[in-house]
Amino acid sequence: MYVHKRQGIGFASALCFLLTGLAGVVDAGGSAEAGNEKAAMCIACHGKDGLSRRPDVPHIAGQSEIYMSAQLRRFRSGERVHPEMNVIAMSLSDEDIDNLVAWYSSIQVEVKLPQ
Ligand code: HEC
Repeated sequence: MYVHKRQGIGFASALCFLLTGLAGVVDAGGSAEAGNEKAAMCIACHGKDGLSRRPDVPHIAGQSEIYMSAQLRRFRSGERVHPEMNVIAMSLSDEDIDNLVAWYSSIQVEVKLPQ
């Protein structure tokens, strides 16, 4: 599907909300619904839609659950060092991590290559 650059983000996030419900049903691990609620503590930087709100913050929309889960555990243990993410991850239980990665991985991403 063609998504025009200027309307891409609004349209994509609307689409994500529609598709997330479906993805949550087939997801084997955490609950995307619970992750959506828990993501209140992530949105200032990563957004509810997983699109970064700051130039030094990575996009995590549609990112692999395996990868995000591993990174959050590395931040939590201090193996991966970043002052903000270390503090945030320290407050997360294993279940929180499963739910959060279920939410962010279930977001559908559209990519448009440059012409
Ligand atoms: C205060 C801003 C801030 C908040 C709030 C925040 N993050 Fe982050 N997050 C960052 C930054 C900055 C990085 C990049 C860290 C680095 O450079 O190593 C990051 C990295 C990550 C990564 C690794 C991405 C990658 O590509 O390796 C994940 C996953 C992640 N955050 C998830 C979350 C989740 C889930 C929450 C909420 C529980 C959250 N973050 C809250 C700032 C934030």
